[in-house]
Amino acid sequence: MNAAEREFTAYTGSEALEHIVYSASEIADRVARMGADIAAAYPRDADVLLLGLLKGSFVFLGDLVRQIRRPLQVDFLVASSYGKGTKSSGIVELLYDPRAPMAGRHIIIVEDIVDSGTTLNQLCGGIAARDPASLEICALLHKRIAPDLEWEPRWVGFDAPNEFLVGYGLDQAEDFRHLPFIASLRT
Ligand code: PRP
Repeated sequence: MNAAEREFTAYTGSEALEHIVYSASEIADRVARMGADIAAAYPRDADVLLLGLLKGSFVFLGDLVRQIRRPLQVDFLVASSYGKGTKSSGIVELLYDPRAPMAGRHIIIVEDIVDSGTTLNQLCGGIAARDPASLEICALLHKRIAPDLEWEPRWVGFDAPNEFLVGYGLDQAEDFRHLPFIASLRT
């Protein structure tokens, strides 16, 4: 067993040989650059609100906001489309709607991964209808396979392989969200 496999097994308890796609340090370096890019994109007095799309973005959001050296506020969207399966059901359920006002504010939706694009396509229209000053998307991972993505992320961490990815917030049937790295799961 090599070092990567030992680290995986420590978190999962599984002997399954999984492939680490992005290490914790690779992610940290990229998130730091994304935070600097976002900070530089808005005037100092802009009213910026980050909306973390839960549950998957919870680790990314926590790391990202600490790399954005400018005033901002944070709220959440809770949506789910995958249930316990590994394929999107195509129906995105909004389980929590943020209370924060959005009119006239600069909104950034923070997403862990853009896969089929269903989640963003179904949620962004509703946010745009609340009359924000601007609406942008920041995604850690983008598979670039969404056939009709209506809302393209302005900031992307990595162009990700078309594999089932877990860790750093991403789950498979609620497991593996706590891995500090991103790994490919055999399905
Ligand atoms: C996953 C992931 C993204 C979305 C991406 O969320 O966290 O939000 O799917 O897939 P898509 O581009 O095909 O829509 P999920 O619905 O599994 O909920 P979760 O965030 O609670 O894991």
